[in-house]
Amino acid sequence: MISRTHLIYFSPTKTTKKIVEQIAAGLNSGDIEHYDLTLMETGLGKQFVDGLAIIGIPVYAGRVPEVFLERIQNISAIGIPAVLVALYGNRAFEDALVELRDVAVSKGFAVIAAGAFIGEHSYSTSQQPIAANRPDATDVQKAKEFGRDIAKKLQENSGKATAEIPGDVPYKQRAPLGGIAPETSSELCTLCGTCANVCPTFVISVDSEVITNADNCIMCCACVKYCPEKARALKHPMLEARREMLVKNCSIRKEPNWFL
Ligand SMILES: Cc1cc2nc3c(=O)[nH]c(=O)nc-3n(C[C@H](O)[C@H](O)[C@H](O)COP(=O)(O)O)c2cc1C
Repeated sequence: MISRTHLIYFSPTKTTKKIVEQIAAGLNSGDIEHYDLTLMETGLGKQFVDGLAIIGIPVYAGRVPEVFLERIQNISAIGIPAVLVALYGNRAFEDALVELRDVAVSKGFAVIAAGAFIGEHSYSTSQQPIAANRPDATDVQKAKEFGRDIAKKLQENSGKATAEIPGDVPYKQRAPLGGIAPETSSELCTLCGTCANVCPTFVISVDSEVITNADNCIMCCACVKYCPEKARALKHPMLEARREMLVKNCSIRKEPNWFL
C-alpha cells in the first residue's frame, strides 16, 4: 500500500504538470506532495525514503532539459518506486525517457513504469498551431488510465521493473540552447512583470522596459504563453523555420504511450 505520491516535475507551460497530476489522480495512492522545480533556482535537496514518485519533464530536442538535471542534482531515493513521464509537442520524444530512466536509477529510484504524453508545443501560436490545447479531455482520460494501470501493477507485483523503454543510448546529441529569446512588443506591453515571474531561468527583468538576457533563455515560451497582453513572441528566423517544419510535418495527432 503506497502511503504518499511525490510529484517531481519541471513544467514551464504546465502541460507536464497537468499530466503528472492526472496520472496521480488515476493512481489514487495516498497524499500528494508537489515538488515543482520550474522556479526552484537552487534545485531540490531531498532524500525520498517512502511512497512513490512520479517524475515529469518536457522533451527538449529529444532529451531531458539540462535545467531539470541541474535542479535534481541533490535528490536521492532509497529504492522507492518511480513512474517517469515525458511530455512532448507531437513531434517525438526520442531518447528523453531512457535518459530520464538512467537519471532516476542513478538517484536511487526503482523505475516501475514510464509514459510519453503530448502537450501543446512551446512554439505553437494561434496562426501556426502545433498540438494546440493539448493535453485535452482524451489525454486526461488516458493519463488516468495509465495511473490505474500502475496501481494494478503495484498490487500484482510491486517489485517488477518497467518493461523496455524506447530510446537509444548513447542519447542523441543535445541541441545547443541560448542566444535566442522571445521579444516584447513595447506597444502592447504594460510592464506588469508576468513574463519575469514565470521565467524558469530568471532571464527577464522589468523596469521602465522589459530586458531579456537571451544567453540563458531556454525558449520554453512560458513568458509568451502567460503574457496577458500577448506582447511576447518568439520571432527569430530560425524559430520561424522550425515552427513551419513542425506545422508541416507534425500536425497528425499522436497518442500517449506507456510502458509497464
Ligand atoms: C527547446 C525546446 C525543445 C523542444 N523539443 C521537442 C522535441 O524534441 N519533440 C517534441 O515533440 N516537442 C519538443 N518541444 C515541445 C515541448 O516538449 C512541449 O511543448 C511540452 O509540452 C512542454 O512542456 P511544459 O508545458 O510542461 O513546459 C520542445 C520545446 C522546447 C522549448
